[in-house]
Amino acid sequence: MATANDTAAQQSPWWRDAVIYQVYPRSFADSDGDGVGDLTGVRERLPYLAGLGVDALWFSPWYASPQADAGYDVADYRRIDPAFGTLADAEALIAEAHALGLKIVVDIVPNHVSDRHPWFREALACGPGAEARDLFWFRPGRGPAGELPPNDWQSVFGGPAWTRTTNPDGTPGEWYLHLFAPEQPDLNWNNTKVREEHESVLRFWFDRGADGVRIDSATMPAKDPALPDFDPAAPPLPHPYIDRDDVHGIYRSWRALAEAYSPPRALIGEVWLADPVRFAHYLRPDEMHTAFNFDYLNSPWDPAALRTVIDATLSSHASVGASPTWVLSNHDVTRHVTRYGRADSSFGHALRQHRTPTNLALGTRRARAALLLALALPGGHYIYQGEELGLWEVEDIPDDLRQDPIFHRTGGTDVGRDGCRVPLPWSGDRPPFGFSPDTAQAAPWLPQPAQWASCTAEAQDGRPGSMLTFYRTALALRRGEPGLRALDFRWLPVDDPAVLAFTRADGFVCLANLSPAPAPLPPDTHLLLASDVDFDPATGHLPPDTTVWLRRP
Ligand code: GLC
Repeated sequence: MATANDTAAQQSPWWRDAVIYQVYPRSFADSDGDGVGDLTGVRERLPYLAGLGVDALWFSPWYASPQADAGYDVADYRRIDPAFGTLADAEALIAEAHALGLKIVVDIVPNHVSDRHPWFREALACGPGAEARDLFWFRPGRGPAGELPPNDWQSVFGGPAWTRTTNPDGTPGEWYLHLFAPEQPDLNWNNTKVREEHESVLRFWFDRGADGVRIDSATMPAKDPALPDFDPAAPPLPHPYIDRDDVHGIYRSWRALAEAYSPPRALIGEVWLADPVRFAHYLRPDEMHTAFNFDYLNSPWDPAALRTVIDATLSSHASVGASPTWVLSNHDVTRHVTRYGRADSSFGHALRQHRTPTNLALGTRRARAALLLALALPGGHYIYQGEELGLWEVEDIPDDLRQDPIFHRTGGTDVGRDGCRVPLPWSGDRPPFGFSPDTAQAAPWLPQPAQWASCTAEAQDGRPGSMLTFYRTALALRRGEPGLRALDFRWLPVDDPAVLAFTRADGFVCLANLSPAPAPLPPDTHLLLASDVDFDPATGHLPPDTTVWLRRP
């Protein structure tokens, strides 16, 4: 029977305007001194996260995994990787987070599993023709001796998307498909066992209290079974493996499963798609609840580009009655303090702009302005761990310490994602900055820059004007601001198109000045918060690269 609380939750589900903090377990906090973060480390810092003022935590994969792609190669969804802890630790973490009012989102990776997953081990051991192979995409090679891959698809991480196997008798065998690393064989979603297993995994975590799932590479699980060649320069429609119509059946079925829980669990999609109409299909009322807004993340710090992406986001979401999200950084992209300090401040996976000249002071100033802008837009907001400390992309990691398969599979042409995954600085004046205990036997799994001494949570705690204080203040204000709850949004007329000004409900106004010149403040408003601590509203003008929250009486 539904309780009064359930009814309230259905009327205004938490995910519609939640601030969700992404925990990247390897790099959050290491309690046992092996140089790798773990769940006990997170549990010890739950009060910090609750105190930051976020509503929910999303955990990048914490499951048993050989870590060929930092946990996105899952060997067993029902076990926690020993480097991170145990299932009991995860259960305790969920309970403790809930007690502090924090929701939990776990990561599910439907496109592929690890090559160490028992299904793939069995498929390899059984040899060609075995039923176990139908859970994946095994095919004979082309060429007289099958020496060429079955088609010309390329891996997202570089190199061919096929790897040849060796038969149990030692002879060269079939090839298998992996759209990411060879250690991540793609699953065949036409096989009902694949569907049933994932639904059982969803129930496993929902039954343990997970409030939602983040769905990895959500556009990719459905493939054209004919596996045709694919020329990216002349792409056929439909694409042979991205955003195929039949992928939606998976999420309809997951939605029904999530809705059967009380309160219903949330589905959050990693949907990288440039077409806003196709993107919105994933958010139809019987599919996912929300999806990451990568168009916003990719956008440069440019008023026209941001205005365009905000409008496109609001209209595509309104077309399906969905709630937008606003994202600035995550574990796959260059940290935005760095992006916003560059001449070209946009992001693209093919455009990492490694080691281009970067003005970190400017990037930091803009990151503060960007936070207030994004937090004031209608919908949910994502924070990637360390963003609240003002961390920048670490660009000088020595090649021999780099771990990302992208770096290795592209021969270093694409430097990869390690620079945003460096372990967090918590305290002290030198590495490991409290990430690991003083007694640690190993250094952090990626080296931390010495300059992070001024960025530690300890150094910033309670300091007026620090990034951490700013995040705490902004999140507390947002939570208490009734005008930000509803989806109301209206642009305000401005003389300078480089000023983004809009109002929400209850007289709330947000003004972001992206112009190189000061912008006049609207009359009859009073200041709630400014991204620039030194801003004085008495001047009547807002400096460049500054955002303010104002209220009309
Ligand atoms: C997603 C993840 C990324 C991972 C990839 C393959 O894009 O965010 O980190 O490497 O999927 O699972």
